[in-house]
Amino acid sequence: MSNRYDLEKIGKIELHLHLDCSLSYEVVSSLLPSVTREEYVSDYIAPAKCTNLADFLARAPKGVQLLQTAVALRLATEDLFRQLAADGVIYAELRFAPLLHLDQGLTSREVVETVDSAAERMIRETGIEARLILCTLRHFSEAQSMETVRLVEQFRGSRVVALDLAGDEAGCPIDAHIAAYEYAREYHLCRTAHAGEGSGPASVWETIKLLEPTRIGHGTRSSEDPELVDFLRRKRIHLELCPSSNVQIIPSIGTMASHPIDQLYRAGVSLNINTDSRMLTPTTLTAEYEKLRDVFGWGREEFLQTNLMAIEAAFVEDTVKQRIKARLVGK
Ligand code: HPA
Ligand code: ZN
Repeated sequence: MSNRYDLEKIGKIELHLHLDCSLSYEVVSSLLPSVTREEYVSDYIAPAKCTNLADFLARAPKGVQLLQTAVALRLATEDLFRQLAADGVIYAELRFAPLLHLDQGLTSREVVETVDSAAERMIRETGIEARLILCTLRHFSEAQSMETVRLVEQFRGSRVVALDLAGDEAGCPIDAHIAAYEYAREYHLCRTAHAGEGSGPASVWETIKLLEPTRIGHGTRSSEDPELVDFLRRKRIHLELCPSSNVQIIPSIGTMASHPIDQLYRAGVSLNINTDSRMLTPTTLTAEYEKLRDVFGWGREEFLQTNLMAIEAAFVEDTVKQRIKARLVGK
């Protein structure tokens, strides 16, 4: 069985990570020097048990409010790359919703340009390969969703590679986002979408049918429907699982022991391990791996296989996939 030292050093892939929900205390206090560590814990981190996804998401605006200037977005991006470097991450996809950062006069293009150029610099500085995913949100209008997907298209050739749908799954219908995903398909843009977290398997089916993503953000509650599990396996639709975030948010998952990750892995579903957010859910991939080791007895083989499935499902060109795979298998 791997010891803690090994888990820290294992090369890791992270596909599901929200930039605006992953601010360290250091970056929060550099943006707002009056914030004490106690206030960071009480005001910025979500409770260990939220009543549901909407309750969890209600904690997010505090961090977003701090990210309304180019300087702040740059600092947050740099800070997150440093967190990833300390966690043994070798490939990451960072996501954010450009339209949430317009309160102090930035345009959505400027938001994306700022994060993209900061990511570019940090890729060179840390050696972590990375791509960016732009999120539309459940409560956004069709026009906002279209603006977001057009940004993905306009930034083709940069580090921006895909569209995501995040936000309150149970509270807002999917309808306003169908056109954006149609546009994404038409322009051959990569697509993921959150589902099966705030709602059950019917929402995963709906998301697959109406948005046709190649990956699902979470998809955790798919485990409640054996037909869906079989469908995901056969179609190789990848689940970006975020175990601790799910324990915090999904009422039916009381503890890690009742998380379906092991069951889904044994059923042959393509999946990987993610943090989702490193502030709202104070965790790291190393901590997630430790929990899976302790609760399900996962070791080198499971971590290698889930990281290989992650890079296979990543929104990155084949040459990079081959390079990352070689690092994972130690060649
Ligand atoms: N689900 C939906 N939207 C989100 C999440 C999540 O877990 N985290 C940040 N935005
Ligand atoms: Zn998420």
